[in-house]
Amino acid sequence: MDSSELELNNGSIKKSKTPARLDFIQSASGLFLATFMIGHMFFVSTILISENAMYQITKLFEASFLIEGGEPLIVTGIGIFVIVVLVVHAFIAMRKFPHSFAEYKKYRQHMGNIKHSDTNKWFVQIITGFAMFFLASVHLYIIVTQPENIGPFASADRVWTDLMWPLYLFLLVAVELHLSLGLYRLAIKWGWFDGDNPRERRQLLLKVKTVMTVFFLTLGILTLLAYMKIGYEHKDNYGEKYIPNKGSEK
Ligand code: HEM
Repeated sequence: MDSSELELNNGSIKKSKTPARLDFIQSASGLFLATFMIGHMFFVSTILISENAMYQITKLFEASFLIEGGEPLIVTGIGIFVIVVLVVHAFIAMRKFPHSFAEYKKYRQHMGNIKHSDTNKWFVQIITGFAMFFLASVHLYIIVTQPENIGPFASADRVWTDLMWPLYLFLLVAVELHLSLGLYRLAIKWGWFDGDNPRERRQLLLKVKTVMTVFFLTLGILTLLAYMKIGYEHKDNYGEKYIPNKGSEK
């Protein structure tokens, strides 16, 4: 009897629907987080266009088109929602962690023996997911508690003067590896793009995954460098907010 089977009073065996449901919730929450992150990377990278472009996006998320001056609490709400989905996703994923060191050793041996690339990918998912548990929590806590401090200068001050860039660098690598691998595994698991020749499609999906990783890592690093540069140049005016058309105010 496997863990998804239950023995009923009359001795018959009933398959539990719980593992299938958990699998579905894990996939759906992962898909949501991946989509959110792709959007997030593009929004944050508007700083590469101009300080004003990033400012406009920040105000858009504060619903400034509805509320005069914008309402940063909306960003707090988005942040809390993302935290909830992240916790659900991570909690369900935990059941797949190797349960003990002995199991881990067996697993390493297995990986060494057969060099199965999907098993290696699963291991990368676990390590990057584990790292994100800590790294993303710090970031999300700050975003949720200081939503008014998002903008071309406020964000750059945080990245440079508040020394967030080392955390962002690790978080960025973990997120991009986890995200593209996660989407690849989702596509294989649910057979989204199998077509007539799933084996060939798998090779294509692997290429798409690599392109995605390289693209988002490059975009993320350029974005981080842009915030670092602005933060460095703005360090003597730390805390001063960006004012559109004027650039800054004392
Ligand atoms: C799964 C959750 C999240 C992850 C993994 C994450 C990851 C990151 C990373 C890696 C960066 C650095 C950007 C770069 O190097 O290109 C960053 C920056 C940023 N993120 Fe997130 N993020 C998450 C959620 C959020 C949410 C919910 C918001 C706001 C609603 C947000 C707003 C920002 C902003 C404004 C920046 C620019 C720097 C700053 O202001 O600190 N992030 N994020």
